[in-house]
Amino acid sequence: MSDDSSKCLFDITGSLAVVTGAARGVGLAAASALAQQGASVLMVDVLGEELKTSCSALRAAGRKVTALQASVTDNGDLTRLAEAAAARQAVSVVVNCAGIMRRTDIDTMTSQDLQDLWEVNVAGSVAVTQLFLPQMMEQGYGKIINVGSLGSVIGLERRTAYATTKGAITQYTVSLASEVGPYGVRANVIAPGYVDTDMAGPYIWGERDRTERLLERIPLRRFATPADLDGAFMFLASAASDYITGQVLLIDGGWTAN
Ligand SMILES: NC(=O)c1ccc[n+]([C@@H]2O[C@H](COP(=O)([O-])OP(=O)(O)OC[C@H]3O[C@@H](n4cnc5c(N)ncnc54)[C@H](O)[C@@H]3O)[C@@H](O)[C@H]2O)c1
Repeated sequence: MSDDSSKCLFDITGSLAVVTGAARGVGLAAASALAQQGASVLMVDVLGEELKTSCSALRAAGRKVTALQASVTDNGDLTRLAEAAAARQAVSVVVNCAGIMRRTDIDTMTSQDLQDLWEVNVAGSVAVTQLFLPQMMEQGYGKIINVGSLGSVIGLERRTAYATTKGAITQYTVSLASEVGPYGVRANVIAPGYVDTDMAGPYIWGERDRTERLLERIPLRRFATPADLDGAFMFLASAASDYITGQVLLIDGGWTAN
């Protein structure tokens, strides 16, 4: 393969990508990575100010990005999202990254905990996917990237409700991949280990003993930064992964290897 064709494999110039949870952390990394590969990116988040700041920073770096303040759990916002995308062009990449986490002990966890986490992490991802699936199926091409977690494949002590939703993301993705594969739509999960973001930061750095214990379990001996996920987003959004669907790509520094 020539140098030029390997560059082309990851090039997504001319495509429109929708990234939820894009104001910060992993979602911002996804938006930045896809824009860097040439996509126009519609950045979606419920946090208006942070979203505006992140979007402006990417624009200042020459990226084609637009911000839309919207919640993935709000029907009116979902309609606005569909309209905002339709006003541009057909969507070929969707990254469902909007998510919330709550620490819950099994004996005190409530149905409200489960419901709150389910609504954003699972129902929100399904709803956003559904907005763009018909058009992806019609055009015969699409990439759905759902953001899972270690909890998509292994147990997470004291985070049962969260892990339940992330396990559901795996089942949702593999079922979706089976159903829409014949139409050229691919669906995969990116499952990060501990990433140093607003969500995980207080936990991974909060107590020195815990930090050391966690690092001891990670063969690469460090937590991920959001940028550690860039390559995976570029890969799964591009033609380089066109024969890959229904997979869970763990990016965990080796956590699940031992
Ligand atoms: N940080 C980690 O260690 C880690 C590990 C595994 C998986 N993840 C997953 O990665 C994703 C991003 O997490 P992060 O660490 O960047 O956290 P984060 O809290 O920094 O980012 C989450 C983003 O989602 C947005 N969001 C939440 N609810 C929303 C809604 N209803 N509508 C639209 N946007 C909404 C938030 O405003 C925020 O910008 C989540 O799905 C999370 O479960 C994170």
